Amino acid sequence: MKVARLFALGTVGGLIGVWAMMAGGCASEQQQKGRALYSHYCMHCHGENGRQNEGFNWSSMPDPKPKDLSNKSEMGTFKDEEIFYTIYRDMKDTSPGGDKIGDDEFAVPTMPSLKYTLSEDEIWAIVGYVRGLHGMKLEFKVEERKKELAAALQAAQSKSDQATQAYEVAEKKANDDAEQKAKELNVNDVEADDSTYAKELAVMVQAKKELNVAQAFVTNFVTRPGKGVNVTRPDLTVKPEQVAEMVERGKRLYSNKYGCNACHSIGAEGGKVGPALDRAGFRLNGTWVYRWIKNPQAMKPQTRMPALGLSDDEAKAVTMYLGTLRAPKPDAPIQKPAG
Ligand code: HEC
Ligand code: HEC
Repeated sequence: MKVARLFALGTVGGLIGVWAMMAGGCASEQQQKGRALYSHYCMHCHGENGRQNEGFNWSSMPDPKPKDLSNKSEMGTFKDEEIFYTIYRDMKDTSPGGDKIGDDEFAVPTMPSLKYTLSEDEIWAIVGYVRGLHGMKLEFKVEERKKELAAALQAAQSKSDQATQAYEVAEKKANDDAEQKAKELNVNDVEADDSTYAKELAVMVQAKKELNVAQAFVTNFVTRPGKGVNVTRPDLTVKPEQVAEMVERGKRLYSNKYGCNACHSIGAEGGKVGPALDRAGFRLNGTWVYRWIKNPQAMKPQTRMPALGLSDDEAKAVTMYLGTLRAPKPDAPIQKPAG
């Protein structure tokens, strides 16, 4: 636990407590963590051993089917970082005229990203587990990366402390000078000359910015991005002339960008990890749906549905599309819309 000891001497705040705890994990803990996360977020599609048609959702998925993660001759061609960024990416709109997609960029909508659901540390644990499925080992040095980030935070903290101190000294001197001058002139008040400490102020502001960045790197590494984030109540009103276009956009995003169809069915089509959405328009309230798809973990921490990084207006469009799904009940074809 070198990192913990390093910080026992430091002056960095509460974050370091979390950091030291996380950095303490040994290799086998990391393996167990990877296994548990894989079982929770990947196994339904890729199967326990990563083989074709092993996951219960495999056969109901649209093409392409989930990759065979046990195939060493294929998976062996990927670097650790490439696997990491497959799982930690921004989803891309694959519709014609959608997002620009690079030639060797992985952009299959039905392979969900966990970037908005898990910490980087957790994703590295998953990459380690995936490596094991095709008989390889993770080479990326996760512990070293953590130490680098921790050291950078430590350095940024002391730089910021020094800059703050220098600023305080310079500001106090300006105030003392002003007081002295007031005495000499025999007046109540002389304004302090703030140009005498402008440089110290600028250095301090810059150092605090750098400290925030270093802190964000550490935080992103060890904490889940949706943690503590509260999705604000959306305004779901739409001008009547815009409804059709929004619904169309929501439908496109549903399959071509966020691959919701990988896990949910509408009619006979789509996966079965989550509930069928044929009747979402009757059953589900718009505000609830919006908040759910923005950050499912905020409403149900253990859900298998990932947060996929939808923007506010994307979430609004998808919510509106789901509102149009009003299939009759199979056993009771004539149904009055509820609410
Ligand atoms: C909803 C089903 C689904 C889930 C859940 C899922 N995947 Fe996938 N995965 C896919 C599909 C579909 C592909 C694309 C296969 C292709 O392009 O041939 C894929 C591809 C991959 C690839 C290959 C990427 C490449 O560059 O070709 C890796 C690695 C992978 N998944 C790992 C994971 C891991 C790890 C998890 C859990 C964190 C996971 N997947 C969760 C469906 C899924
Ligand atoms: C990796 C699989 C997966 C993906 C991808 C996924 N979901 Fe889900 N979804 C689930 C699961 C599992 C649940 C059940 C939630 C629970 O109880 O944990 C769920 C629940 C829901 C619900 C609530 C349904 C109900 O009847 O209670 C809605 C609505 C929903 N998802 C919409 C979406 C939308 C829209 C997308 C795409 C932006 C999406 N989901 C992507 C797995 C997924």
